[in-house]
Amino acid sequence: MTSPLSPEARPAWSALATHYDMIAPLHLRDLFAQDPQRGERLCLEAAGVFLDYSKNRVTDQTLGLLFQLAAQSGLRQRIDAMFSGERINLTEGRPVLHTALRAPRGASVLVDGENVVPQVHEVLDRMSAFCDQVRGGAWKGHTGKPIKNVVNVGIGGSDLGPAMAYQALQHFARRDMRFRFVSNVDGTDFAEATRDLDPEQTLFVIASKTFTTLETMTNAHTARAWSLAGLGGDPQSVQRHFVALSTNAEAVAAFGIDTKQMFGFWDWVGGRYSMDSAIGLSTMLAVGPGAFKDMLAGFHEMDEHFRTAPFDRNLPVIKALLSIWYNDFFGAQTVAVLPYSQYLKRFPAYLQQLAMESNGKHIRLDGSRVDVDTSPIYWGEPGTNGQHSFYQLIHQGTRLIPSDFIAFAHSNNPLGRHHDLLVANVFAQAESLAFGKTTAQVEAEGTPAALVPHRVFDGNRPSNVLMLDRLTPKALGRLVALYEHDVFTQGVIWGIDSFDQWGVELGKVLASRIVPELVDESTPDLSHDSSTNALIRRYRELKRAGH
Ligand code: F6P
Repeated sequence: MTSPLSPEARPAWSALATHYDMIAPLHLRDLFAQDPQRGERLCLEAAGVFLDYSKNRVTDQTLGLLFQLAAQSGLRQRIDAMFSGERINLTEGRPVLHTALRAPRGASVLVDGENVVPQVHEVLDRMSAFCDQVRGGAWKGHTGKPIKNVVNVGIGGSDLGPAMAYQALQHFARRDMRFRFVSNVDGTDFAEATRDLDPEQTLFVIASKTFTTLETMTNAHTARAWSLAGLGGDPQSVQRHFVALSTNAEAVAAFGIDTKQMFGFWDWVGGRYSMDSAIGLSTMLAVGPGAFKDMLAGFHEMDEHFRTAPFDRNLPVIKALLSIWYNDFFGAQTVAVLPYSQYLKRFPAYLQQLAMESNGKHIRLDGSRVDVDTSPIYWGEPGTNGQHSFYQLIHQGTRLIPSDFIAFAHSNNPLGRHHDLLVANVFAQAESLAFGKTTAQVEAEGTPAALVPHRVFDGNRPSNVLMLDRLTPKALGRLVALYEHDVFTQGVIWGIDSFDQWGVELGKVLASRIVPELVDESTPDLSHDSSTNALIRRYRELKRAGH
């Protein structure tokens, strides 16, 4: 029996499947030719973000059906349920309230009858006071010197958000302080991040929601040993050089960090949705409390837009439905995210966790197996670098790669003609993907016959162009919230829990079983499959041989 959560159970889904047969052969060239206003009509500006979605393979009828699909999937109710603190993360029995992290002081969001907004602001106030002390030099290291280096130790959402935000907001960051991010359990990450740092002026920010994650705990212990070694071994020094960002006070205390130096958050904040919680401490240390609050205001603006705008005027909803259209009807497997800003270098990596850890699922909320494709694979690089690398495939390869171009009207580093050249490339790429170059056009240029097919661009390759004014803290908040809600909307259509991540568990369990088998002095009894057993034996032999 079909689950009521199956998108295929919705009348609009079947209508879209039929409609697809009509749309697939249409070319964007024709769609634009038939409607000279298309480029001005199919765009939307809200919460400081302009979206041109005219270069998508849709007609008004397609969009109408997609909006019906959203309505039939109960999106309105699910948005209300999320914002009002219902336990929509069913498999973990938790509310999903990253939106409360950016609710203004005075707002009310209830969890089990308690307003959580005052707690959020209490932590923000403590973070601000701490950041002012560190940035102002009042917070001294164990030997009395001010802090100049901040090392965030975390992984997944406790690393990718802060690392992305630091990179994105570098223009607004303190240039006389150094910020480093250690995530990988590969000792190289820690060694390279700290090799030129002075322990007397280094603050470690241990970021872990659970405070049990193997990689982070391993790096945190190494950091403590490094710090103690550099500070004469006095255990008291830990209190001047370590702070914790976590929901687990007990584990923080057990590690040896005074909980007065812990900035907390709550189980209703998912790791990949936590960059605006206490997990953002390194961002706040870099850009200051004022700019951090501007970022939260940007998030909140987009939250309000998503919560209140009708679907046909709703940026995250439109973006999500277009993704569904390509993913589930055209069979597109990936989405390219192409920020035309060097500052957004880490944005695709950040988005990979946000989207793929959220929606990379094959089981629906009711335990039934999905019968359509869920999350596409997100990937990308900043333009224009990507143009000289993988864009060839987007233009002339055999796969359909819907692309998001992200551009800014103003540069934070206006240097000669650089910004005009950068933005010209955004428009040119989107134009050439959509309209291509026909055989007749190539021939008219006098191209030798043998080369003509090589120089033809089919076009009809869809893209969105997102344009914001300038990459500021507020703009970053708006942009991240847009993608958060885009991902949520897609999850609602597929009927899945976008807020759990059971798929990362098995590997963790197996790794902890294998560790003793690699380090045991005596030859362990191996009971894995023959491949894993042989790999373990080989590693042990090479290790023993000391190469
Ligand atoms: O990869 C699994 C995961 O649980 C992510 O969801 C999370 O962001 C990351 O590990 C880190 O978790 P923690 O903040 O608890 O160390």
